[in-house]
Amino acid sequence: MLVNACEMLNSAKKEKYAVPHFNINNLEWTRFILEECEKLRTPVILGVSEGVMKYMGGFKTIYDMVVDLIDYLNITIPVCLHLDHGSSYEVCKDAIDAGFTSVMIDASKYPLDKNIDITRQVVAYAKSKNVSVEAEIGRVGGENLDNNNGIVYADVSESVRLSQNTGIDFLAPALGSVHGLYKGEPKLNFDRMEEISKLTNLPLVLHGGSGIYDEQIKKAISCGICKINFNTELQIAWSNSLREKIKTDESYDPRKVIKMGEDTLKECVRNKCELLGSIHRV
Ligand code: 13P
Repeated sequence: MLVNACEMLNSAKKEKYAVPHFNINNLEWTRFILEECEKLRTPVILGVSEGVMKYMGGFKTIYDMVVDLIDYLNITIPVCLHLDHGSSYEVCKDAIDAGFTSVMIDASKYPLDKNIDITRQVVAYAKSKNVSVEAEIGRVGGENLDNNNGIVYADVSESVRLSQNTGIDFLAPALGSVHGLYKGEPKLNFDRMEEISKLTNLPLVLHGGSGIYDEQIKKAISCGICKINFNTELQIAWSNSLREKIKTDESYDPRKVIKMGEDTLKECVRNKCELLGSIHRV
């Protein structure tokens, strides 16, 4: 069942677990993730970046594929189809018009007032279509690398202003995580996480879930994180497994080649869901 993210994240907030957001990269990944999450009875958010949207042939192609897979595979868990890091109002609107049930507007690179302004516009359109909205503040690391991994920690009062002036459903405050691989150790600011959670009273989102230690993930959930995004770790697990198997397996049919990473990808999904506490919640 395709749903927006509100109910699943509010339940996670109440019951102190987190919903996994897995980025999808192609049809097979979508299928593997859906099959495993159905088996585990976990709600799931399928994240689609603008890059993947272009790679796969547009939002409509992805929407149709997800809806048809849910139907064909008899998926009964709640599934949210979510635009990850939408860069403008127009991109968010395109995703919503194609049928996405949730969008992230990432206007974090702008000054706060402009971030609020763009986010409000997205919320106004999204609400009219029953679509949930995530916004970002601060800068998740991984780009513009400096000694601090490119991280800009979210400010507490700015986070409160963004949430109170926009009507967003959940907030991604950058608090030390990084997209992709870390240079050094992840350094999350848990005190600030807890403060932002209390003052905004919104479900919080942790981007850059790959490479964060299990104990840190658990602590983040206890500090108000309700959605954790994973991509790189799944990519590494899948590609390492494929690289190993293809040394001795001479398959040339792409269906068999892509499936070589299936078990490892599913294992990675399972481990993350166990860690987040999202299993048997639906
Ligand atoms: P990782 O690739 O570091 O897991 O981050 C994924 C993410 O945050 C997508 O928004």
